[in-house]
Amino acid sequence: MKRVFVTRRALPGDGLRRLDGVAQVVAWNQDRPPSRAELIASARDADALICMASERIDADILDTCTRLRVVANLGVGYNNLDLGALTQRSIPAGNTPGVLAETTADHAWALILAACRRVAEADRLVRSGKWRSFEFDLLLGQDVHGATLGIVGYGAIGQAVAKRARGFGMRVLHHSRQPRSDEFSTWASLLELVSNSDIITIHVPLTEETRNLISQREFEAMKRTAVLVNTARGPVVDQTVLVAALRERRIFAAGLDVYETEPIPDGDPILDLDNCVLSPHIGSGSAQTRAKMVDLAVANVMAGLEGKRLPYCINPEVYV
Ligand code: DGY
Repeated sequence: MKRVFVTRRALPGDGLRRLDGVAQVVAWNQDRPPSRAELIASARDADALICMASERIDADILDTCTRLRVVANLGVGYNNLDLGALTQRSIPAGNTPGVLAETTADHAWALILAACRRVAEADRLVRSGKWRSFEFDLLLGQDVHGATLGIVGYGAIGQAVAKRARGFGMRVLHHSRQPRSDEFSTWASLLELVSNSDIITIHVPLTEETRNLISQREFEAMKRTAVLVNTARGPVVDQTVLVAALRERRIFAAGLDVYETEPIPDGDPILDLDNCVLSPHIGSGSAQTRAKMVDLAVANVMAGLEGKRLPYCINPEVYV
């Protein structure tokens, strides 16, 4: 029987059960993720791999795990996969598009509201027992309603974010490769967008073109009251420059779900900033959406094991 290795002990929903009778599913057996060496050892005999953003799947792994016929990534982003190495070995890889845009947009909005209205700071203050009286100027934030929202990247998630902005009566700008406006948002150059927006939210994939897309020049152009939100990939924003901008109050606040290094290393200066709301890469993390993502990954695995075209293939060159 074919063997599928899953890099986590348990996954939401019951999607994996569809593999019953089709393949032997072996799930990683500890609460922490496998180290790279453990991943290689566990996937060595696998015909299919179900993995996620935290696992780099590259030539080294593929040269050891030579039975692999399909790699199913749990996520729409796939910067953790070396697609060239997969394609060179004729291994199709799949992702999970079309099911997580609305959920990730919800989380971007959670961070927008939390960062603008200092919700995490307020929570810490109340719990600390130091809230003594009603104060007229306590934890003053920035208005969200009526503000200008700048969306960097206007794919499915960026568009879902734009639609929600209507309810807040916002002016919406976006930057994308295609300079095209629609009923929800007006296209702007990146520099125009960062200079004019009160809230900037990132929704581009991580590629060589988007690495450090938001760097010194962009931070210098931002308003001192600007709020930056990133639910895409950490390296799209130069984190060193971001930390300096937040520390020196050159921007008002940030809301981050993704980081240069994940998890954030102990002692990282980002952990000391009051004006930064942090969440642990949970943008698509609703029970419903994570279960749908598993279903899509399983569909990719089933097709791959049967030698059929993956329904959500990200390296279709393997089929030519
Ligand atoms: C995605 O879908 O890319 C999420 O970030 C999970 O990896």
